[in-house]
Amino acid sequence: MPYAIITGASQGIGKAIAEKLLSEDFSIAVCSRDKNKLRLLENEWNEKYPTASIITYVADLTNKEEVAAFADTLLSNFPEIDILVNNAGIYLPGTIADEPDGHLETIIGINLYSAYHLTRKVLPVMKSKNAGHIFNMCSIASLKAYPNGGAYGISKYALMGFSENLREELMEYSIKVTAICPGATYTPSWEGSGMARARFMETTDIASLLWSAYNLSHQANVDTIVVRPVKGDL
Ligand SMILES: NC(=O)c1ccc[n+]([C@@H]2O[C@H](COP(=O)([O-])OP(=O)(O)OC[C@H]3O[C@@H](n4cnc5c(N)ncnc54)[C@H](OP(=O)(O)O)[C@@H]3O)[C@@H](O)[C@H]2O)c1
Repeated sequence: MPYAIITGASQGIGKAIAEKLLSEDFSIAVCSRDKNKLRLLENEWNEKYPTASIITYVADLTNKEEVAAFADTLLSNFPEIDILVNNAGIYLPGTIADEPDGHLETIIGINLYSAYHLTRKVLPVMKSKNAGHIFNMCSIASLKAYPNGGAYGISKYALMGFSENLREELMEYSIKVTAICPGATYTPSWEGSGMARARFMETTDIASLLWSAYNLSHQANVDTIVVRPVKGDL
């Protein structure tokens, strides 16, 4: 049975990816800060996927010690890691001039540092097998600046920089690194935005793209996936 880690899988894109991988017979380890949501999901998934081994873990990934504890738990339960999805992230609008002090630190703490620290914990296992696929949930905001991007845009450019450097470093181990850059995708983080639901992509679109990239030949790596709503960015 293959094994995957997905951060921030209590809702939205992370949850859709977790469910896609469960449906493809993966065992998964997921985390978020919300104990109740995770407990409900664990019950639902255990019922639907009885042969999968499912770890749900409560962690605030802005805290380096909690990242390490999550990694220790899953590494002591899983013999290998086939997929790591660094998905957990937050969006807060702002401009560099006017966003509150500490805004950049808060956003970069989850959108960049969690991916960096968790990846470093998982790499020894992947390297020992000369295999594995790391997906980083970047954004269209990793590719171009937009109004009110502020610290969020900086964090997503940084996550792209992390992905590019990581890929270069891991080529000799045949470990794949893919940056996924979605445009507007309907998740709870967009609820109340007042924008028409039909303008958004589906979370299952992102999960399908990840699955396609994962299933290429051993020799092929998809560097970057860029996907936007058919009627353009929001
Ligand atoms: N939706 C879009 O349009 C879109 C577009 C481009 C890129 N993205 C990126 O895709 C990723 C997922 O977005 P989404 O729209 O699915 O977001 P979402 O619905 O808000 O879900 C975010 C997930 O991350 C978790 N999370 C947030 N902060 C965390 C923390 N400190 N520690 C642990 N877990 C944390 C959340 O769980 P808890 O709150 O329970 O901790 C939740 O499970 C993000 O990186 C986002 O930037 C989204």
